[in-house]
Amino acid sequence: MGFRYIGSKARIAEDIMSYIGAPESSEGVLIDAFSGTGIIAEKAVDLGWKVKINDMMTNSIVMSEARLLCESDVPFEHFGGYASVLEVLNSLEPSEGFMWKTYSPASTKHCGIERRYFTEENAKKIDAAASKIHEWKNSNQISEREFALLIATLISSTNNVANIAGTYGCFLAKWTAQSMNEFKLTELPLRKETAEFSVSNIDVFDVISDEMDTVYLDPPYTKRQYASYYHIPETLAIGDEPIVEGVAGLRPWKDKASVFCYKAKALKALTRLIIQQKAKRVVLSYSNEGHIQLDDLAEALSPYGEVKIVNLGSIGRYRSNKTAVENNSNVTEYLVDFRRR
Ligand SMILES: C[S@@+](CC[C@H](N)C(=O)[O-])C[C@H]1O[C@@H](n2cnc3c(N)ncnc32)[C@H](O)[C@@H]1O
Repeated sequence: MGFRYIGSKARIAEDIMSYIGAPESSEGVLIDAFSGTGIIAEKAVDLGWKVKINDMMTNSIVMSEARLLCESDVPFEHFGGYASVLEVLNSLEPSEGFMWKTYSPASTKHCGIERRYFTEENAKKIDAAASKIHEWKNSNQISEREFALLIATLISSTNNVANIAGTYGCFLAKWTAQSMNEFKLTELPLRKETAEFSVSNIDVFDVISDEMDTVYLDPPYTKRQYASYYHIPETLAIGDEPIVEGVAGLRPWKDKASVFCYKAKALKALTRLIIQQKAKRVVLSYSNEGHIQLDDLAEALSPYGEVKIVNLGSIGRYRSNKTAVENNSNVTEYLVDFRRR
């Protein structure tokens, strides 16, 4: 199975944005405050919005930013363009770096445990590309935007050869056919037209909105922590060599544990987050399988403004394994549309 981003709104992004609508004036931006893959921000730009993207995970924010870039944002002047820079990266000498030592079978010797996220050959190629991209950034040979595009390309090409069942929560015991393919960086699509956007990589409670903005919130709604499920993309984006733990080789992730993943804390946190916005309109995505009962949220918000709950209809559920597919279970997605009084 290929890579999956838990809670991605890819299948319903058009529905969500057509509900939110186009901007009513040139003032105000759409803030995608838990941007994940960035699909909502992308659709918002298509509708004419200026956007602000935010996510506390570095890998999410580079993936989101990459979706908003067009060719003139990423000229790669020293290299002769995006395709040429990928050629340079694809022809590097493979190197025995952190991914090889930690996440390929070479980990038996280096960590005392065999991990099978990548074949040794692929891990060495990923290492070579990752260290070159970070080196170029640190020596200012590429811009922030060019860096974001290259890291997003690295992560998405790495996902293509990862021996996983959808997320990096653990590797598979048996090698999949996909993981045996040769690692190669392949171009991500670029937008035809420029998008107006700003980027932040901070906790959502620190994101500031203005009165004319519309805030879209898509928080985690189950106990699954993104920081542990996507630990390898996070390491590729940050470019460090953390001390990892356990069979899965998780990087330390508790400093990025999300309050919304705890059943006992989610309602209070979400209410506080919505109430603290200066924006007149806040639209929240949530599902019937989340920690919070939406009626409880509506009640908590009602002293502050109008609350409308919209059922987006039943959609095919996020599936991480064959069992879920066989069970054919469904999840109902809702939007909570809050307008401040
Ligand atoms: C349901 S996903 C968003 C999916 C996204 N809308 C999409 O369609 O791809 C939730 C996101 O919230 C981020 N997140 C969780 N807690 C956060 C926090 N306290 N501050 C900022 N981002 C957070 C996670 O890293 C994850 O990317």
